[in-house]
Amino acid sequence: MNEIAAQKPKISRASDTTLTRDYYVSPDVFEREVRQVFFKQWSYAGHVSQIPNIGDFFLHSYAGESLIIVRESAENIRAHFNVCRHRGSQLTEAPSGNVKRFVCPYHQWTYELDGRLKRAPMMPDAECIDYEKLSLHMAAVEVWAGMIFINLASQPEQTLIEALGAPPAGLLKLEPERLKEICRDRLLVKANWKTLLENYLECYHCAGSHPELGVAFDIQSSFDQTADWGGTCFLGGEPLRKGLVTVSMTGELVSKPLGRHAEDRTPELEVAEGLGLLPVLTRVLLHIDHAVIHVMNPLSVNEVEWTSYWYVRDDAVEGQDYSVDKVAEVWRATNAEDKQLCERNYKGVLSRTFVPGPLNPRAEGALRPVLDVYLRMMDQ
Ligand code: FES
Ligand SMILES: [Fe+2]
Repeated sequence: MNEIAAQKPKISRASDTTLTRDYYVSPDVFEREVRQVFFKQWSYAGHVSQIPNIGDFFLHSYAGESLIIVRESAENIRAHFNVCRHRGSQLTEAPSGNVKRFVCPYHQWTYELDGRLKRAPMMPDAECIDYEKLSLHMAAVEVWAGMIFINLASQPEQTLIEALGAPPAGLLKLEPERLKEICRDRLLVKANWKTLLENYLECYHCAGSHPELGVAFDIQSSFDQTADWGGTCFLGGEPLRKGLVTVSMTGELVSKPLGRHAEDRTPELEVAEGLGLLPVLTRVLLHIDHAVIHVMNPLSVNEVEWTSYWYVRDDAVEGQDYSVDKVAEVWRATNAEDKQLCERNYKGVLSRTFVPGPLNPRAEGALRPVLDVYLRMMDQ
C-alpha cells in the first residue's frame, strides 16, 4: 500500500475557498513567486537515459530560466544556468548534444563540464580576473530512481532525498532507471499556473469532463487520496479501476511490463506508484507497463506550460511492443480537456466580479492544504 493510501483522508472545511483574484492576475505576485516558490522547489527535468555518456547534455526550461543538464562524470550530473559569466550570453541553443567543454559563442570563454572557467581569451587567470570566482551558476540536481530533478536554488533548504525519502520497493521493482522516452507533448495553457494546479488537485470535474480518464482511474477513491496532498511532496500513484492493470483506453497493457514485473505471471497486479512535487506540480505516474510524467512550468502570470513525457521500458520495440498513440491516448485526451477547462476558468477569474466560492469538502479537499503550503512559502 502506498503512503497516501495508508493515511486517513481529511475532509476540508466547508468554508474553504481558493485564493483571492490578485493571486491569479497580479504580475507583482508572479514576481514574488519567482523568488519565493520557483527558486525554492524541486521539479522534474528529465531522465538519465537522455545523457548516458560523459559530456552529453540537454537544455531544460523552467520558470523563465534555461538550464544545461550535463553528465559531468559517470556518477555526476550537473545543472548549469545557461548564462556566460562574462556578459551573459547563452552558451548554447542546441536542445541536446555532446561536448568536451562549453565554449561561449560570443567571446569564447570556455567552461569545463563541471562549470569551472578554463579559459578567457586575452584574460589569463589571476592577471585581471580570478577564474575560480567565475564558474557557471549552478542549480541543485538530484537523481532519484533514474529521474533527474532540479532545484533552481544552488543550496536548497531540503535535498530531494530528505523531502521524499528513498524510493520505495514497489517503485524500484518497476526499474524506473531503465526507461526510454517515446514522446512528449507541450501544451501552452493560457491561465495562471495555480488555476492549472487547482484543476489537477481535484477530480470533482472528472466525471463531467474526462470520459477517457474515467475508463482507467478510480475517480471516487482519488477524491480521498488527493485530500492528503498537503505538503511539498508525496509518494504514490493514482488508483486504477478494479480489475484494470494499466491506464489505457481498453484497460489492457500497452507495452511490455516494466522491470521485474516482466517475470510476473499475475498481470492483475494493480500497480500504482509515483510521486508528486508541489506547489508547482510535477506528477510522476508509474504503471506496470509505462510511465507518464507531467511537469508544470510557469511562464508568466497568465501562461503556463504543461509538459507530459511518456516512457516505456528501454528494450521495448515500437510497432511490436507498443504504439505511441495507444500509450499516450488517455492523457493526451485528458490534457486537451484540462487545457480548455483551465482557460475558461481563468477567463472567469479575470473578471473584476470574481470572488472565490466555497470548495466541495468531499471532492476538493486537496486544494486548500496545498494553497496553504504555497502561502507559507510566499510569506517567508
Ligand atoms: S558573453 Fe560569453 S564570452 Fe563574452
Ligand atoms: Fe482534469
